Amino acid sequence: MNLQLGDVVPDFEAPSTEGTIRFHDWIGDGWAVLFSHPKDFTPVCTTELAEVARLKDEFTKRNTKVIGLSVDSVESHLEWEKDIEETQGQRVNFPMIGDPESYVANLFGMIHPNASNTFTVRSVFIIDPAKKLRLTITYPASTGRNFAEILRVLDSLQLTDAYMVSTPVNWKDGDEVVIAPALSDEEATQRFPKGFIKLKPYLRMTPQPNR
Ligand code: BEZ
Repeated sequence: MNLQLGDVVPDFEAPSTEGTIRFHDWIGDGWAVLFSHPKDFTPVCTTELAEVARLKDEFTKRNTKVIGLSVDSVESHLEWEKDIEETQGQRVNFPMIGDPESYVANLFGMIHPNASNTFTVRSVFIIDPAKKLRLTITYPASTGRNFAEILRVLDSLQLTDAYMVSTPVNWKDGDEVVIAPALSDEEATQRFPKGFIKLKPYLRMTPQPNR
């Protein structure tokens, strides 16, 4: 399936290390990050899963659940999690979907046959409370992901959903933001009491409104 931004993501039922998951119900009223890794018992994935576990509180602060997936069984995930804790000093504290038949992987287009027709690529999906896909990134198997970037995008999405702003290049929480071109200067003055700098009619910067 060729999932595109704004699509409602597929719902599915699948086994996980924390029991059977019905995906949309599991997401509930918050946000979710679904990410795939190529294979259990592989080095880069071992470091990634520990990092996501370390960042769990950061995801929770953003009302976001995380869930991993590879085309291995739940039993395999559970065995591998022992190695992750042993080598990385971090327990995996989020569910991992077992998908040995590649059912979920195919639903989400996580297998790219010209890269590998058996392993999942490193996909990341950010899903909003309406179950709509808001971001997808695909990394090659040999490159571990930067999960700080995923948190940064969550901050941006949640901010831009709440205010009529966008976030400029390399923005991070607390930086100036861009006022939506659809707002007139008068409307911008009302909505952004901290004021704004007008560099061009289409480029108006204002302090982050929720700070
Ligand atoms: C890894 O996680 O280290 C990995 C997995 C599949 C292919 C290459 C690297």
